[in-house]
Amino acid sequence: MRISDPKIVAQLAELAVDVRPGIALADLTSLGIGGTTDLLRIKEHESLPDLLNLLDTNHIPHKFLGGGSNLLVGDGELPWVVLQLVRPEPDVVLEGNFARVDAAADLGRTITYCAKNDLGGMEGLIGVPGTVGGALRMNAGAYGMQIGSYVREVKLYRAASRKIEILRGHQISFEYRHTSFAPDDMMLSVTLELPSKSFNEILKGIRICNEKRRSSQPLGQKSAGCIFKNPPGASAGRMIDELGLKGLSVGDARVSDRHANFFVNAGKASAKDMLTLIADVRERVQKTYGVELENEVVVWNA
Ligand code: EPU
Repeated sequence: MRISDPKIVAQLAELAVDVRPGIALADLTSLGIGGTTDLLRIKEHESLPDLLNLLDTNHIPHKFLGGGSNLLVGDGELPWVVLQLVRPEPDVVLEGNFARVDAAADLGRTITYCAKNDLGGMEGLIGVPGTVGGALRMNAGAYGMQIGSYVREVKLYRAASRKIEILRGHQISFEYRHTSFAPDDMMLSVTLELPSKSFNEILKGIRICNEKRRSSQPLGQKSAGCIFKNPPGASAGRMIDELGLKGLSVGDARVSDRHANFFVNAGKASAKDMLTLIADVRERVQKTYGVELENEVVVWNA
């Protein structure tokens, strides 16, 4: 979708929104898949209510993009614009055991920065690509920990009230790869309370997680991490592997040879290829195990 009306373009500039026309989302997602649309980069959180009003008044649909690392975007010209926060400098401010982190901050760099200041707890998430806002929205987790455990406060744009609000940790529910945020709420910043640990101790944990991840996941390839959530008490990756589906391909979309719940873009996969592969694997698992696998990857298909 293109914003061509000069009046709207001028209003966006007044709201400190930088319009990048005709951006290929394939370049902004870790899967390297996705069509084209206008990207609206937001420099000031406070402009969001007015920005959303402007878009709604002019019937311009939108979606919020974080780091694009858990996302499968449709092909071709996309019927909505994409909003993304510009990362401020600094993006992490520490005070005692509290880290106030901008949603646009890179997750890995945030974990490392906190570690250097003797704040730990998030070692398991090292190596998970994406932004802190994206991790928060999905309640990203790995190796027995999840980000939600450390959340004390969240600043967000709430679609329901059309305002910027602050929620306390206890007002948010964090479940397995799921939170109580509405799909069109936009994370702005989060305050984490992290346990004190020495840098060396944290580094040990980080090294162990890095090693585990390197040995079991296809890190050098284009992927969106795990495609399916694990069903209660079972492992999607193990089931897909047991069915002998590693290497199964539709075009360049391929079930990873290393971890069967990672589907990689081995070249020029389209969203259609990837969605066909996902549907095929889901059906095969359903037939054999009687389990309907739920997507872990977020799909933006027009
Ligand atoms: N397994 C296989 N074959 C495979 C993959 C896994 O037999 O191809 C077996 C493993 O040997 C193991 C079991 O399945 O016994 C579980 O595998 P793994 O330890 O790799 O964990 P997972 O359940 O597949 C989850 C998260 C990952 C996270 C890891 C580490 C989900 C859907 N996935 O994977 O998160 O990194 O644990 O904690 O919850 C993601 O969210 O995108 C993601 C990759």
